[in-house]
Amino acid sequence: MRRLILLLLLLLLLLLFIVSPSPALSAAPHLRLQLQLQRQPDPPGTSRLNRLRAMIQIDQHRRRAFEKLSRPPDDPAMEMPLISGAYIGTGQYFVSVRIGTPPKPFLLVADTGSDLTWVTCRYRRAAGSGFAGDQQSGLAFEASQSSSFQPINCSSELCRKELPFALTKCPTADAPCSYDYRYAQGSSAQGIFAKESITAELSDRRQVTLNGMVVGCTSSSVGSSFTKSDGVLALGYGANTFVSGATARFGSRFSYCLVDHLSSRNATGYLAFGSNPDLLPAALVAHLVIKPELQPFYYVAVSGISVAGEVLRIPLSVWDDRRHGGAIVDSGTTLTVLAEPAYQAVVGALSRRLTYVPRLKLDPFEYCYNWTSPAAARASIPELVLHFVGAATLSPPAKSYLIDVADGVKCLGFVSTPWPGVSVIGNIMQQGYIWEFDLKNQWLRFGPSSCTAGSTYR
Ligand SMILES: *[C@@H]1O[C@H](CO)[C@@H](O)[C@H](O)[C@H]1NC(C)=O
Ligand SMILES: *[C@@H]1O[C@H](CO)[C@@H](O)[C@H](O)[C@H]1NC(C)=O
Ligand SMILES: *[C@@H]1O[C@H](CO)[C@@H](O)[C@H](O)[C@H]1NC(C)=O
Repeated sequence: MRRLILLLLLLLLLLLFIVSPSPALSAAPHLRLQLQLQRQPDPPGTSRLNRLRAMIQIDQHRRRAFEKLSRPPDDPAMEMPLISGAYIGTGQYFVSVRIGTPPKPFLLVADTGSDLTWVTCRYRRAAGSGFAGDQQSGLAFEASQSSSFQPINCSSELCRKELPFALTKCPTADAPCSYDYRYAQGSSAQGIFAKESITAELSDRRQVTLNGMVVGCTSSSVGSSFTKSDGVLALGYGANTFVSGATARFGSRFSYCLVDHLSSRNATGYLAFGSNPDLLPAALVAHLVIKPELQPFYYVAVSGISVAGEVLRIPLSVWDDRRHGGAIVDSGTTLTVLAEPAYQAVVGALSRRLTYVPRLKLDPFEYCYNWTSPAAARASIPELVLHFVGAATLSPPAKSYLIDVADGVKCLGFVSTPWPGVSVIGNIMQQGYIWEFDLKNQWLRFGPSSCTAGSTYR
């Protein structure tokens, strides 16, 4: 009897799943059409093979038509190579862009949690009052050698009302607008705002230059977050971020594909503006929550987490941005951060299933395991699934949450933040996937990828 009820429940669930209109299903018209085609009766005299061939041809035409529809009319996509910083021991991903006129190459942290693009820089006041800052060594952007570098005046509307972390000091109307940009981790960057040109490559290898982008000329910085890069590329949303400039030109979508975070320098993913032909129409879709008060962060509507098929008991307020919670997708954060109630539930459920592997202590991780012990060889790593509002789920590979931190040592790749607090889906959790941010429709589409197919950077 109990079994019958279970079966009935299962059937009901299945039915519900099939009829529920979810963005994931409606975003896959391609799949549905294929199903209808298969139901057509055989015309007499056609073999199954011929029929299949005809179907494949129809599919191909259809796919091409979809690609045409989704491509912006003017330019092909703008693509920039994106690499893991593992080769110099950082957990960030670097994008290579060219700044100024003539364009000079710089390696910037690709950061969806930032609204200021800046580069390590030397700027000499026209009045001849010396260098605004010359603490930096190594390769800095030389503002005086770029003909397109235009400091933003401190008296301008932009400086007084719009730019993030702009300082109020304004000795003369045409003095440059300066900033002291603060990051959550305690790092900061100081310098002056300017309008400058940023150059990248199109997917057909032509160059494209975006003029008049807001770029910070950073003369000093505090903290270790950015010492291994030349600056930050602001991929958050807001009026003056790189995303706002690039989406104005290429349409309201951008995407990135993150290679494995332990990859060598020559394994290259990409950051793309414009439509991404590598992302299948059947990609999963979650809702992005885009609101001025949440700027520049991309909140995503999470509904829960399950471990080994069991949905964990986590209060729904943890995922609710209106109740001091919520989860953001962040390319600039390495480990996934969970608000305390979610953290306890997730590491509790995972560690309970790994108790037979000897534990080690390795800051900042709470749960690390000796993976050279014989018990580890028999371990089956429990599956972790992130559920989004709607039907989409993210099932990351085990290496994205039981991460290799040293030879023979694996750790649960989560850190906790006190509740109430915002959770962060970090970049290790995002590796091996394409992520497309659709700002107009407020969708986050994603799908597994090797990050190489179809892109310029094979
Ligand atoms: C800054 O102010 C000066 C003098 O008022 C003006 O000539 C210049 O065009 C301004 N620059 C910008 C970028 O607005
Ligand atoms: C990266 O470069 C190294 C040394 O040049 C080479 O051995 C390796 O195969 C390359 N890896 C990839 C993924 O291309
Ligand atoms: C891990 O386990 C192996 C085999 O049991 C042992 O030889 C090694 O010392 C352990 N490593 C650590 C760091 O405890």
